[in-house]
Amino acid sequence: MRVLGIETSCDETAASIVSDEGEVLSDVVHSQVKLHAEYGGVVPELASRDHLKNGRYVVEAALERAQLGLEDLDGIAVTCRPGLAGALLVGVQLAQGLAWASGLPLVGVDHLVGHLLAAYLRFPGLEPLSPRLPFVALIASGGHTAIYRVDSKQAAGVRELGGTRDDAAGEAYDKVAKLLGLGYPGGPVIDRLAAEGDPRGVKLAKPMPQRDSLEFSFSGLKTNVARWVEQHGRPGDDQTLRDLCAAFQTRVVEALLSKTFRAVSNEEVDCVVLGGGVAANRQLRARAVELGTSRGIHVVAPPLRGCTDNAAMIAYAGAQRLLLGEDDRGQLTTSTKTGLPRVTRKGRGKRTRNLPHEV
Ligand code: KG4
Ligand code: ZN
Repeated sequence: MRVLGIETSCDETAASIVSDEGEVLSDVVHSQVKLHAEYGGVVPELASRDHLKNGRYVVEAALERAQLGLEDLDGIAVTCRPGLAGALLVGVQLAQGLAWASGLPLVGVDHLVGHLLAAYLRFPGLEPLSPRLPFVALIASGGHTAIYRVDSKQAAGVRELGGTRDDAAGEAYDKVAKLLGLGYPGGPVIDRLAAEGDPRGVKLAKPMPQRDSLEFSFSGLKTNVARWVEQHGRPGDDQTLRDLCAAFQTRVVEALLSKTFRAVSNEEVDCVVLGGGVAANRQLRARAVELGTSRGIHVVAPPLRGCTDNAAMIAYAGAQRLLLGEDDRGQLTTSTKTGLPRVTRKGRGKRTRNLPHEV
């Protein structure tokens, strides 16, 4: 089965053709990063307009690179949730038009399920990874940060174990980068600077240190960095800047991985999958492998292009639905929220179940 995937949930216009076994036949991503950079974050209206402008060309490029026409495909998959309302509508309408014209079946995909299954993609020239079900997955991106137990490749087989109560990890990177005048997006530049810094050079408190909790909180860490900047002034391009980035990143990586490995032992699985843009982080990947090796846990992290937003993961997740004969033609709609059940409520209020010390 060959499936065209379309992704427009945030600031990447992407199209890809993938087989139901995960073989990536083409993978085209048009990034809007430059468009939003001067605003320090994604401007929803501009994102929608840019998807509208580029959607058709991105799909054409994906077909051309795979040397296939619509008639060679078996289905179309499109991100229908969660994401920016207008941005999602552009991709879904494009996919609907293509399905209508071609007569192909069409399925909607939850973007988070895409990230969860990205580890199954087989990119040309790269060794295939082999996540073993059931596994625990950490998805950390600009919009979401949560730990899941995954029992099957269908949304029904995914259970959230805990998530962030405030900012997503990528959002914390982007906000800290803005505070430090490092531009947008913050992840890649902080990753690079942190590699040359000493995390012991600057003291920052641990975010949400409760040992039993599988929830995260990153807004306090961001405030901590803001206070440091108020007290010491914004560092120039010097060693202090590198140390501050290293201290911030070490706190984020520690928080993400200590809770992920806690979930691994609670769930008694032997495989961890990383996904989402923050999983492109070099320190996170290296530390996860280190922790996994010492515990006999198989750690799977997709190549960088499989971590950040792409349409290959959407095509693959869609293929798993199409294989079951599912078809959303005539009833596809969008939502800004994930369809996966959530256990962590954002903001104040009751915490997740099984957190007696916090209730
Ligand atoms: O998954 P993604 O491409 O889009 C969303 O679904 O949000 O993730 C984007 C996020 C941004 O916040 C970006 O700063 C972060 O991932 N990111 C990184 C790295 N590369 C991208 N964070 C830490 N280290 C990186 N190397
Ligand atoms: Zn994403």
